[in-house]
Amino acid sequence: MVTLDTTSQMGSRKARHYAFPQGHSSGKDTMNASHGTSGTAVQPTADKVTLIDGYVPVIDLSSAWTGGPEGRRAVGRALGEVCEHSGFLAVAGHGVSETVIAEMYRATQEFFALPLSEKKRLLADPDDPLMRGFGRPGSLAASNADASLDRERALPDISETYTINKLGEPASPGLPSDADPHLKLPNKWPELPRFAEAYRAYYAAMENLAREIMRLFALALDLPESWFDDKIDEHMTNMTANYYPAQPDPPEPGRARKGHHSDWGCLTILYQDGAPGGLQVLDKAERWVEVPAIASTFVINIGDLMARWTNDRWVSTVHRVVNPPRAVAMCERYSVPFFYQPNYGAVIECIPTCTDPGNPPKYGPITSGAYIMDKFRRAYGN
Ligand SMILES: [Fe+2]
Repeated sequence: MVTLDTTSQMGSRKARHYAFPQGHSSGKDTMNASHGTSGTAVQPTADKVTLIDGYVPVIDLSSAWTGGPEGRRAVGRALGEVCEHSGFLAVAGHGVSETVIAEMYRATQEFFALPLSEKKRLLADPDDPLMRGFGRPGSLAASNADASLDRERALPDISETYTINKLGEPASPGLPSDADPHLKLPNKWPELPRFAEAYRAYYAAMENLAREIMRLFALALDLPESWFDDKIDEHMTNMTANYYPAQPDPPEPGRARKGHHSDWGCLTILYQDGAPGGLQVLDKAERWVEVPAIASTFVINIGDLMARWTNDRWVSTVHRVVNPPRAVAMCERYSVPFFYQPNYGAVIECIPTCTDPGNPPKYGPITSGAYIMDKFRRAYGN
């Protein structure tokens, strides 16, 4: 459930905070949409795996952990169907500790509540292609293939960001000799009590969940369950906290909290709170559908590399984060996506089960590292 706290000040006006949805146990009984579900055609089902059906369904992963091989196949099938349809879902029964999530959320709020001058001390190194630390202004819409770079750069996203990456940790994976050495720049940690511990614990929980979902994806694609393992065992995942400030004045026309885009990696695991001005996804009829924050779940979506890998059998769907309606414009919002990115040198080319003589590969091979470096340059480059 969403709780409201109106204690903090922003200028002369009060900003409102939303606490994260409470209760991280799985199961239908704990589910409730924390805010608007307008435009989302969701129907509860009696299925043990698909708890709520629709364009952004709720899938319960529990059977994958407790149901043996048959349970894993059943969850894999459900995930595969969603990935072919919308590429967007919420997962319950994910097994991530409620305490780990709550600590990450606390740390996120504390960081963004620091004075801007403090946050700017952690400003990302201009040479860091992964933008670790406090982010530069940029526009995610600039990464779209048909984007006008000049226009998007003139209308940056209305958000602050803070990013860490496994490559910035002391015992991080090695990289090929031709990789940009700046990829190994260290993470930038704020001097806040228990911040780094909270972020490292949450990142580790996301690594585990992402690896397990990739194994279920392999089952969905009629591959051996371990097919992706050696392509993600040295992943280079950015975890980025987004802070969407209150908007005391109406934003400039054309500016949004995050411009429309598709994600770049293989999958994204998103934590979002329930504040207004949230995530929307474009459906097949080109209507924007709200993705509600549901207690005890994470949102998962397919990224561009998974679409390429599957020869577009799975879809990387366009989404955005909208400005709040003026009546609730003083509501702040937080979200924390984990952008699961395969190993730097992993070659992304058509998966054998996703092609046949009548459906040849649509894309040539590309490495995970080269792909994401290009995307970052477009969205946040100088
Ligand atoms: Fe995104």
